[in-house]
Amino acid sequence: MPLSSISKEAAIGTAVLGVAVAAGFLAGRRSCSRFAHGTLKGSGSLLQQYVLDHSLREHPALTKLKMVTSQRHDGRMMVSCDQAQLMANLARLIRAKKVIEIGVFTGYNTLNMALIIPDDGKVVACDINEDTAKLGRPFWKEAGVEHKIDLRIKPAIQTLDDLLANGEAGTFDFAFIDADKGGYNDYYEKCLQLIRKGGIIAIDNVLFSGKVLNSGKYGGDIQSMHELNEKIFHDPRVTISMLSIGDGVTLAFKL
Ligand SMILES: C[S@@+](CC[C@H](N)C(=O)[O-])C[C@H]1O[C@@H](n2cnc3c(N)ncnc32)[C@H](O)[C@@H]1O
Repeated sequence: MPLSSISKEAAIGTAVLGVAVAAGFLAGRRSCSRFAHGTLKGSGSLLQQYVLDHSLREHPALTKLKMVTSQRHDGRMMVSCDQAQLMANLARLIRAKKVIEIGVFTGYNTLNMALIIPDDGKVVACDINEDTAKLGRPFWKEAGVEHKIDLRIKPAIQTLDDLLANGEAGTFDFAFIDADKGGYNDYYEKCLQLIRKGGIIAIDNVLFSGKVLNSGKYGGDIQSMHELNEKIFHDPRVTISMLSIGDGVTLAFKL
């Protein structure tokens, strides 16, 4: 990628984190869309880079967190940054104040959401891995939004049940489901209870690197994802859009 295409934020981040990390950033930026590894493998990478170069407006703390994440062996678990930006724009559009993040990893989308909600808003961030989640904390702090993030380290289903038991049904505006695939159906059902009418549930990895086309052959999580896709397609409780961004995301708008 020509250096001239690096954004101002990236340049600042590069200066801060040094050449070694910058190399990782460039690799991370190329793989910013999980789609590059999946359904459209190879075919769209230059165009995808153009899309990123002409649309991605990342907060500097997000860029730095992405750079750090891209150095990890499992860095590609991070959400696609163009998808994250779309979700932030939608959450802003509906004036989201309370957000649920199911699957924090290093906290990119947690930070992304915390940046767009008001100062008295909150992101309930669910993960079972404290080691990865705590990597994001310095960047949450640097961005001045740490106080909006309520990190809960336990199985996400327990956190969702805690929220329901606490009387918070119908009070959340936006949820992002991006954790263990076997739990997606339960997460979707609990989120439908927790989200208000007009709120949005974003379900990630709905295309499973294209494997949903042959879900019967693969079985397991891929079959479950296909079945959830079928269920949501016919679900009268929501209107939907399924987008081929990242690894595929379904946006469900609660009626
Ligand atoms: C794909 S990553 C999430 C990426 C993240 N949304 C981001 O913004 O980059 C999936 C995460 O789900 C977490 N996870 C797996 N099983 C879980 C469970 N039962 N409850 C909560 N989190 C879980 C993993 O520890 C991992 O950090």
